Amino acid sequence: MGALDRTIANAVPLMPRALVRRVASRYIAGERLEDALAVIRNLNRKGCTATVDVLGESTRDKAQAAEILGEYKRVVDALEGEGLAAGLSVKLTALGLDLDEELCRANLEEIVEYAAERGRFVRVDMESSAHTEATIGIVLDAHARHPNVGAVIQAYLRRSIEDVRRLCAAGVSVRLCKGIYDEPRAIAYKDYDTVRQNYVFLLEELMRAGVYVGVATHDEYLVWHALRLVYRLGVPKDRYEFQMLLGVDEELRDILVRAGHRMRVYVPYGRQWYEYSTRRLKENPKVAGYVARDFLER
Ligand code: FDA
Repeated sequence: MGALDRTIANAVPLMPRALVRRVASRYIAGERLEDALAVIRNLNRKGCTATVDVLGESTRDKAQAAEILGEYKRVVDALEGEGLAAGLSVKLTALGLDLDEELCRANLEEIVEYAAERGRFVRVDMESSAHTEATIGIVLDAHARHPNVGAVIQAYLRRSIEDVRRLCAAGVSVRLCKGIYDEPRAIAYKDYDTVRQNYVFLLEELMRAGVYVGVATHDEYLVWHALRLVYRLGVPKDRYEFQMLLGVDEELRDILVRAGHRMRVYVPYGRQWYEYSTRRLKENPKVAGYVARDFLER
């Protein structure tokens, strides 16, 4: 990221909420479940599956965690009712991880069980490094009882190779991403190319181990490496999938779908859109900067 982009990224938290909402609307299905279902129907028609994220994180009270839990069950019922091809993505802080780890475990257990009975997969998103160890532990524990739960690994973390080996040993499916949180150099690679190289390293480890892999990236360099590994290692088409965020690089998405690769799109919806939106805008200062200028010039 260049100096100008960094300045714009730092200015994202200062943007008025209404502006954030307008710019970020491409990344979010809407506020209601019906909005998410409409997006998923469309994605399914285009040959993509989906994973649904009920927006909300850092829950600080039990009632809010229970509300999110209930909403995820509504999502599963709706997906089942319409026969849509989609699973769930959940954040443990939304289920109460910062509040009470046992409550969070119980909430996850309930969602995973509910989803398992209805043939749905639950991916546990990875949040900031303060939660990495707890999240891996909770996923490993849940997976011992329910194979329909999977983890996320961030290629920017120095510890990730060890976590990948723990998850592979237990046969846990992994979504591999670069990582979106701002982490200190002591624990995270800060150099763009080193993160890319680590991504390729971890991806090879996952593919060789034979666990189901979600290749979550819009970086064509990494997509190329993933394809190279698929061909070199002879990974069957049903042992991996590409994953992309809603609203990002639909052209690359379509290219991969047309080539016959599985593609899953991350579909967030809900009223708590602010944190997710600002992270997406910091990632893409060009869009944020363009719209901010447009807004200020009015
Ligand atoms: P990079 O950021 O280099 O982007 C490559 C190209 O993609 C850019 O040049 C641009 O063209 C395009 N692009 C990327 N982001 C864009 C944006 N917001 N708007 C427009 N264009 C954009 N992280 C995490 O810490 N925990 C998690 O659980 C997840 N989960 C997750 C699920 C899925 C399905 C995806 C795709 C990503 C995540 N992430 C995540 C986010 C991930 O860690 C990472 O921040 C983003 O994917 C951006 O990294 P890329 O690999 O796409 O490369």
